[in-house]
Amino acid sequence: MSNLINPDKVPKRKLYTGEEIPCIGMGTFGSDRFTPEQIAGAVAGAIKIGYRLFDCASVYGNEDIIGKVFASAIENGIVKREELFIMSKVWNDKHGRGDVLLSCAKSLKDLQLDYLDTYFVHWPFPNYHAPGCDKDARNPDSKPFSVDRFMATWRQMEKLVDMGLVKNIGMSSMTIPKLDAVLPLCRIKPALIEMELHPSFQQPELFHYCLERGIQVISFCPIGSPNRPDRDKTADDVVDLEIPELVKIAKSHKVHPAVICLKWAVQRGQIPIPFSVSESHYTNNLRSAIEDPLTRAEMEILKGVDKNCRLIKGQVFLWEGAKGWEDLWDLDGKIAN
Ligand SMILES: NC(=O)c1ccc[n+]([C@@H]2O[C@H](COP(=O)([O-])OP(=O)(O)OC[C@H]3O[C@@H](n4cnc5c(N)ncnc54)[C@H](OP(=O)(O)O)[C@@H]3O)[C@@H](O)[C@H]2O)c1
Repeated sequence: MSNLINPDKVPKRKLYTGEEIPCIGMGTFGSDRFTPEQIAGAVAGAIKIGYRLFDCASVYGNEDIIGKVFASAIENGIVKREELFIMSKVWNDKHGRGDVLLSCAKSLKDLQLDYLDTYFVHWPFPNYHAPGCDKDARNPDSKPFSVDRFMATWRQMEKLVDMGLVKNIGMSSMTIPKLDAVLPLCRIKPALIEMELHPSFQQPELFHYCLERGIQVISFCPIGSPNRPDRDKTADDVVDLEIPELVKIAKSHKVHPAVICLKWAVQRGQIPIPFSVSESHYTNNLRSAIEDPLTRAEMEILKGVDKNCRLIKGQVFLWEGAKGWEDLWDLDGKIAN
């Protein structure tokens, strides 16, 4: 069987802005384990086999080398720029006035693009952690969420749309209380929101909140991020790929459990952005969206495996006086400060 997948066969979703986006893409965060060269190699292979959506970020430290891959694929006629949907994100230490524009300009330069299809606010806090840090790392400058600070950043994001540098803007790792506070203030509403979603962490309330408001959800860690950085691992974390019901469904479809995570995501309506440096894995991942769908009964079974198990707890972003990682996620319905 040929590895090539016709990108026209990959279903698209329509954003409220009118733009179309593939229903599955590829992530580019190497989890402090893979080199930029390995990741850029996977992006090059992925474009060749039919991926068109890529999730990048300045903090992943590889946009310059991935940019070379995009430029060469376009130059060699493998893909046209307008067929690609490329996303990037402003990192937490660039939230201030003016810095968002500079950060976007740097990503555009590194990625060798003259516009981004989506630019995200990577985290809703200006809290920085050093790449590769461990779970106990804290930055004394970290601050709790503030509507005013967030909106100052969002105004810059809106400006990027006005300037034609960015087609859509998005938020990431938000909560319902934070969205309730900022959405009414947005001149340009987010077209997309990135959030952690996998079978053991389905966030049904936040997911439906976004859908009801016409915001497309992008799901990160869609396979349960088995190789995530050690700082994001705790003893109680559920391993999605070992959930018995999921493993059983995978056996009956004769695929790896990772593929079932992705079929579940696509059929539920979120856009998964799985990461892989293995050609056979990322080929299977794209193929998951175009063949052998899960039955309604299988979707129901998977709905039942939710364990409310957040993996990316974000404790490295905590501020002085915060009680624990739960403070980042407004669990009692109020913004923690
Ligand atoms: N907005 C945010 O704050 C945020 C946070 C986290 C992540 N993200 C984005 O989301 C992307 C995905 O998240 P993630 O990388 O943490 O986790 P993930 O996609 O859930 O898991 C990736 C891991 O799964 C393995 N894998 C992938 N396909 C497989 C297959 N078919 N069979 C077996 N194993 C497979 C990969 O190993 P192999 O390489 O061996 O295939 C890789 O180590 C990131 O790359 C990043 O772009 C965004």
